[in-house]
Amino acid sequence: MSGAREQFGSRIGFILAAAGSAVGIGNLVGFPVGAAKNGGGAFLLMYAIFVFSICLPVMLAEMTMGRHAKKDPLGAYSAISGDSPKWKLAGWLAIATPFMIAVFYLVITVWIFGYLFEAVSGNLDLLANPETFNLFINSSSIFIYMAVVVGVVYLILQGGVKEGIEKAAKLLMPALFVMLLGLVVFVLTRENAMAGVKFYIIPDFSKLTASVINGALSQAFFSLSLGMGILITYGSYIDKRADVPTSAKLVALTDTAVAFTAGLMILPAIFSFNPNTNPEDLSESSVGMIFTYLPNIFLALQDSVGYLGASIVASLFFLLVFFAAITSLVSIFEVPVAALMDEKGVSRKWALTSLGSIMIVIAILAALSFGKVEALTSFIHYAGVDKSFFDVILDVFYETILPLNGLLVCIFVTYRWKSANFNKALEEGSQGYRGSWFEKYVDVSLKTFIPAILLVIFINTVAVKYF
Ligand code: PFF
Repeated sequence: MSGAREQFGSRIGFILAAAGSAVGIGNLVGFPVGAAKNGGGAFLLMYAIFVFSICLPVMLAEMTMGRHAKKDPLGAYSAISGDSPKWKLAGWLAIATPFMIAVFYLVITVWIFGYLFEAVSGNLDLLANPETFNLFINSSSIFIYMAVVVGVVYLILQGGVKEGIEKAAKLLMPALFVMLLGLVVFVLTRENAMAGVKFYIIPDFSKLTASVINGALSQAFFSLSLGMGILITYGSYIDKRADVPTSAKLVALTDTAVAFTAGLMILPAIFSFNPNTNPEDLSESSVGMIFTYLPNIFLALQDSVGYLGASIVASLFFLLVFFAAITSLVSIFEVPVAALMDEKGVSRKWALTSLGSIMIVIAILAALSFGKVEALTSFIHYAGVDKSFFDVILDVFYETILPLNGLLVCIFVTYRWKSANFNKALEEGSQGYRGSWFEKYVDVSLKTFIPAILLVIFINTVAVKYF
């Protein structure tokens, strides 16, 4: 932002914007897939523990860094560290990460847009066919959909409809939640759904492996938009009167409630549509699974509301998910755009166009890596398997760098900025935080076991993922 820094108009505006960024494909697709893949209840338990014991303090650290420095992530690391070149590297990483995450996020948003288009066109039965997803992601129409999605993001970030989006979010995000609840009720009344509920809610501790723990942590970071510079950037738009601890708690709660509800829809649906589901086989679950089960849930509605009714419900749902994805995509992409403007003093248009063009090229390569182009499909070989270009982005940025960025934030605020300064900055504007047990917890945990756990998980991920 050049000139006076933009500010959120109100506390609720900030919470909604942060929640709008947090609630997205991660909650609706990533979380249910993660839960299915990683043993259901064991994953859910680890996820909940991580959100409140690790992610919440890291969230406070990021928001406070941004609010104090009033800068993008790179500027915040430099300003607070007194221009330390080493910490600037951490700043660069906090900008490169959302850029690369935006690439795979864009690809999945494009799929959602395609499904919306097909649902509106009345092709629900086609979407419900398990073969469709693979054919769809390898079809050439993907590139037309991509052009539309990129156009929408460009328009929003260019500023024209930003306010409209915020207003729409106030209506559409609650609508999405209500619709999810309705679908949960529908799925739970189906035969054999309770087997899915059991798998989802009751933890089987024998499933608690290192990879389940890694998966739960990466998912929690991703879902809360941590480790991507986004909350540093958003923090820079709030003033000293804002109550950061309360806002962070509300964002974490909202985000977790949406993820939990999405899981409560998908896992029972899997068991109800496939009564012979063996929980062991679910470890092979993938994003494609959600794109098959959702249309099946809608199609099952036709007994009560007819095909047209089912298609309308499906279209509405995909529209709301598309909206949630777009608000998230816009917020991730805002990080590198704002950073380029802050650091190089370029105009918003220039930053958007140059970064956008690079992103489109990488996203096209990622979209071609599901079978269309062999060199991208078997892009590189590690850990005994061929990885696609898309997989590599996911492994490196989602699984590995997110927790690393979190680790850097903890070390930075407690040892470089110093806990006393950080605590003072965080206390400003908060109510009832100073002197509370929560403050003590945040203070001690950020200095000690959170960085220790993040370091162990980072090392383990590197060892397991790449060797
Ligand atoms: N938290 C979002 C989700 O769960 O879908 C993803 C996301 C949005 C990540 C925005 C980062 C971000 F800046």
